[in-house]
Amino acid sequence: MKYVPRLGVLVSGRGSNLQAILDAIKSGTLDASVEVVISDKPGVPALSRVEKSKAVVVDRAAYPSAKDFEEVIASKLERRQVGLVILAGFMRILSSAFVGRFAGRIVNIHPSLLPSFPGLRAQRQALEYGVKISGCTVHLVDESLDGGPILAQAAVPVLPGDTEETLSERILKEEHQLLPKVIREFARTD
Ligand code: GRF
Repeated sequence: MKYVPRLGVLVSGRGSNLQAILDAIKSGTLDASVEVVISDKPGVPALSRVEKSKAVVVDRAAYPSAKDFEEVIASKLERRQVGLVILAGFMRILSSAFVGRFAGRIVNIHPSLLPSFPGLRAQRQALEYGVKISGCTVHLVDESLDGGPILAQAAVPVLPGDTEETLSERILKEEHQLLPKVIREFARTD
C-alpha cells in the first residue's frame, strides 16, 4: 500500500533543509506532507517557511526541565499524527525516552561523513583536520550525539582555499538533495 509520510520537522534556525523538503513536495518529487514545524526558539527564519498554523514554538527556556520540554514536543507531534520526525538543523540532543517514543522514526542530517566529526561546526572540524573529502550524512537518531544507523551519505571534496563558509555552502547543496531522497525511500519501503 502507498504510504505518504506525515512529517514533523524540528528546527532551530535557518530552515534551508526544511525548504528543500517543502520544495520537493511542491514539485511532486516527494510524496509526503509537512504537518508541523517545531522550533526550540522563537523568531527563527525556519518558522516563516510554512503557514502559521503549522509553525509551532516550543521554547526550551520556558520549561523547567528537558523532560517537560520534550513531552510538549512529543505530544504536539502525536496530536498531528506525525509518522516521521525530521531533525533539520535542530540543535539539541534528545533523551532516550523521546527517541524510544518514536523509535526508528527520527531522522537527522549532519554536515560531515559520520562517524567523522560529530557535534558542532562539523565543517570547521573537517577543515582543521585536513581531510580532502567531507560531505553529509542522513541517519536514524538514537541517544548518542550524531550516532545511529546511517541511511545515506554524499561526499563533497574539500578544495584548496576552502573556508568554513565555502565548504559549508557546498555541503549544504548536497544536504538539500540527500534529505528529500531519504524521505522518499521511507515512503517507498513502508
Ligand atoms: C545543516 O548544515 C544541517 O546539516 C545541520 O544544521 C544545518 C541546518 O541548516 N544539522 P538549515 O537550518 O537546514 O538551513
